[in-house]
Amino acid sequence: MPSRTTTTTAGRPRMLACSVIAGGAGKTQGVINLAVEAAGRGHRVAVWDFDPQRTSSHILGYQDPPKGQATIFDVLQGNSRLEEAVVRARYRVGEGADEGAFRTIKNLDVILGTPQMADAEVTLGLDPGGVLWLQNVLDEQLPEGRWDIMLFDCGPTLGILLLSIAMVGPEVVGCVGDEFKYIIGLQDLEETLDKGARKFRRFGFKTEVRHILATNIPLEANGEVRRSGGAVTDDAMRALRDNEDWAPLLLPFIRRQIRFKETIVKQRPLRFLDPANPALEDISAAADALGIDRLNSTRRR
Ligand SMILES: Nc1ncnc2c1ncn2[C@@H]1O[C@H](COP(=O)(O)OP(=O)(O)OP(=O)(O)O)[C@@H](O)[C@H]1O
Ligand SMILES: [Mg+2]
Repeated sequence: MPSRTTTTTAGRPRMLACSVIAGGAGKTQGVINLAVEAAGRGHRVAVWDFDPQRTSSHILGYQDPPKGQATIFDVLQGNSRLEEAVVRARYRVGEGADEGAFRTIKNLDVILGTPQMADAEVTLGLDPGGVLWLQNVLDEQLPEGRWDIMLFDCGPTLGILLLSIAMVGPEVVGCVGDEFKYIIGLQDLEETLDKGARKFRRFGFKTEVRHILATNIPLEANGEVRRSGGAVTDDAMRALRDNEDWAPLLLPFIRRQIRFKETIVKQRPLRFLDPANPALEDISAAADALGIDRLNSTRRR
């Protein structure tokens, strides 16, 4: 199979957008872990944190934007250029806020999130061309050749912000946890993208859910879904597997591992918090299924 990870024909990096409105679906963990995995495989990766909760930025070493540091909201407003909002991802190795308390993660950048993104819907809604803001930023400001893959943490939104992200044509990854509310969230996401397609067809809008990432799933050691996962999990998994449109989109499941929760407070992605954690195998399998190949030994930098 030819590599699907290198830049697209239009010269854009490959873009993956983790989305679904239901909170706690694993969007942030999906973005972070796939980003760290891809960076470890030798790809140059950027995480875009669109979520006002900014959990992606937090886990990647930035509890709050450093003083004077531009964020994604400044870019959205046109007050800063994209490059000014880019920082190097890092993980915490000590106490305090000094640079010495962190180690940078090779190949991985973050476009910093901010609580101000809570105003994004209003700001974009007031701008007649608001839905095109990201498209314009990518057309005019994307540093050429800097990133191979960009991962978008969309946050729990189905409004203009999501449409503006969808407008740039990412592969949307519908994220689902082990409850039925995420199945409903996935349906809502598909409907929103369908509506966008009808409304914005003349702009070439045709973004749809291309992958489904199920996380927090009780798996046996052999990778099978545990039968005693509980009725709620069973119903949710059945709804995914029995749906003939969704079943082919399913990525390998990410197993339930309590240590994911610690990654936030420790500001360490799972790879750096617990390098032997079995869920890292699932993340690796998901990256394989996405065609994110290993460049480490071949890439010349
Ligand atoms: N495989 C897993 N096993 C155990 N806990 C997990 C797993 N994946 C994610 N979690 C935990 O579930 C919670 C929700 O995950 P995450 O933050 O990635 O979801 P989200 O969709 O980004 O949520 P939000 O809508 O709040 O942004 C977090 O506490 C996370 O650490
Ligand atoms: Mg999140």
